[in-house]
Amino acid sequence: MAKPGRALLLAELTAGARAASRFRSPESVLLSRGWSRLAAGWTLRLGATALVDQFAVREEVFFALGCDILRGKPTGFVVDIGSGFSTLGLRWARTFPDCSVLELDLPAVAQSKRRRVESLGKPDNWHADGFDLSIDRLEDALGGERACLLSLQGVLPYFSVEDIGRLADNWRDRSLVAQGVLLCDLLDAGYFDNQGKSLSRSPFRSRFADAAAAARVFTQAGFEPVESTALEILGRPLGWRNPGNNGLFICKAFA
Ligand SMILES: C[S@@+](CC[C@H](N)C(=O)[O-])C[C@H]1O[C@@H](n2cnc3c(N)ncnc32)[C@H](O)[C@@H]1O
Repeated sequence: MAKPGRALLLAELTAGARAASRFRSPESVLLSRGWSRLAAGWTLRLGATALVDQFAVREEVFFALGCDILRGKPTGFVVDIGSGFSTLGLRWARTFPDCSVLELDLPAVAQSKRRRVESLGKPDNWHADGFDLSIDRLEDALGGERACLLSLQGVLPYFSVEDIGRLADNWRDRSLVAQGVLLCDLLDAGYFDNQGKSLSRSPFRSRFADAAAAARVFTQAGFEPVESTALEILGRPLGWRNPGNNGLFICKAFA
């Protein structure tokens, strides 16, 4: 996952899927590349609509949950790790102009994101920096500041359960304010594609038997309370009807 070329490709494909989905936001199209939207278009033609739509639904759910948190902390510091070409940081920065938003990703991705956002008109309260989650310490990247919202969308499933526990423990101790929130997605042990075929040979490393097990990794790291909910449930108010083969949990954990 940390190999730069592969990480960049995954970030582009995720952005393309989101922008090709019927749940896309206008920014998602602007931040994606034509070739990746085309690739997602072919995937849609093959019938994998739930797979493509889930990226946009996940992002809309993250955006709404983040807005709920930031309404109570409108001058807070927001950090999105492994931000790729997601719209989250940009939309949070525009919605909460008194917040400061920092996106962190591998240097090549962060550099490309900065260029794209600058061409759209960069908000003054939005920044992007290079950062390697496997090597760099978050507290160093934040220069001693603490975040009120730390979000990781589509990133932690690539890390082992042990790594997630260790990282979360460290972030709670050193990088989040008291009552700050960690917002992330994790995977169910049974993660299937549209044909019901197990994706056990996928690049994902962390699996949880159920929502409670996913929440436990954060309670063990000292977060309280922790809410872990299936994306399928959170996506329903948007009109998303998922056939039930997508085992994504969204976790909201309070430091
Ligand atoms: C599946 S993409 C998701 C991107 C974005 N959050 C989204 O939802 O569109 C995973 C992201 O994690 C980033 N990533 C992978 N390994 C990383 C690492 N070691 N440190 C920082 N970012 C990393 C990738 O560059 C990529 O942008």
